[in-house]
Amino acid sequence: MSEIFTGNFTQQEPISDEAIEAAVNVMRSGRLHRYNVGEGEDGEVALLEQEFAAYMGSKYCLAVSSGGYAIATALRALGIAPGEPVLTNAFTLAPVPGAIASTGGVPVFVGVTEDLVIDLPDLEAKIKATGSRILLLSHMRGHICDMDDLMMLCNALEVQVIEDCAHTMGARWNGVLSGRHGVMAAYSTQTYKHLNSGEGGLLISDDPDLMAKATMLSGSYMLFERHLAAPGPEYFTETKYQTPNISGRMDHLRAAILRVQLRDLDQQCARWNERYKVVEDGLADTTGLTLINRPAAEAYVASSFQFLLLDWSEAAIDDVVARCLKRGVELKWFGGAEPAGFTSRYDSWRYAPSEAMPDSDRVLKGILDLRLPLTFSLDDCTQIARIIGAEVAAVHQGQQG
Ligand SMILES: Cc1ncc(COP(=O)(O)O)c(C=O)c1O
Repeated sequence: MSEIFTGNFTQQEPISDEAIEAAVNVMRSGRLHRYNVGEGEDGEVALLEQEFAAYMGSKYCLAVSSGGYAIATALRALGIAPGEPVLTNAFTLAPVPGAIASTGGVPVFVGVTEDLVIDLPDLEAKIKATGSRILLLSHMRGHICDMDDLMMLCNALEVQVIEDCAHTMGARWNGVLSGRHGVMAAYSTQTYKHLNSGEGGLLISDDPDLMAKATMLSGSYMLFERHLAAPGPEYFTETKYQTPNISGRMDHLRAAILRVQLRDLDQQCARWNERYKVVEDGLADTTGLTLINRPAAEAYVASSFQFLLLDWSEAAIDDVVARCLKRGVELKWFGGAEPAGFTSRYDSWRYAPSEAMPDSDRVLKGILDLRLPLTFSLDDCTQIARIIGAEVAAVHQGQQG
């Protein structure tokens, strides 16, 4: 009888008692709106912004309603014009091209390598072909490209980089925190991310003009002086008249539970990485399965795991997914022809026309993905790897035979 995994791939850890208490205190106060503060009170949202800016080493931070909203706000702050091309990764999630489209911009997809990062030669070619001045760089599933090379290229071609750090909160490239290379960076605090407030987003930057615009955009009325991590009032002098209010503020309830979680972020990321390593080690000798290379310069913060079944037939990959599911292991397949659940391919986003990218299609077709929530023990991860390894081997052997 084959072993069956009984864990739940979508079960995150509970919110801690301390965070629950902080949320209850907000509810008891009745003051949930970020600008509704008592006499002498800073408010949970302004304090979260201050603490997140300190963690990231950024001058400014703005807390908003979602990661997608943070990205769209960054694009609007950069003054995106209707129909303007914005470069972004072909391997990403729907909210990323969606954020571009929400601003009237047009996503231009850049290829993905076997390391699951943006293809730099393709990026260079597409910057030159489109004349685009903005790259929305998605560190999809926590894989970070060579940021030194990417920034050299973008600086040389005068392309501004917005980092989508939905999967890299606390990660580093060559010692520099993810989100500190580009002109602005967006983070998500949606349930499956490194901090969990159900929904939520954070935007950081060192640029006072961009952050003054972002603050006005988020719906700060004329109360921007209540922020603790925003630029000074002198940056709002003209901006406050020129910037439309597109409300997307964070509330005190979410900020209260995020502040408590932020204190443990590094420790939680280390626990995620332990789980990643167990699965990686468990799959290391599986014939037909390609592990993703993680360069020494990349200090990742894994909350999910990816591997490739490169050049496998669709039927064989389908078979692996079905066999693993039967044994309780939920794999998501980015190569599936139809978008399903959280998984979709660039050619599913038909509002953004794209050219075929055969090299990227080969990689995307082979990407399999699984969540590794912290509710899984290290033994659970060993068992998951054992099940995947056995099913991949069985299907691979069948193909050869
Ligand atoms: C890669 C990536 N970027 C951006 C987002 C957007 O975050 P949110 O769901 O908070 O809008 C997500 C979230 O699903 C994501 O996975």
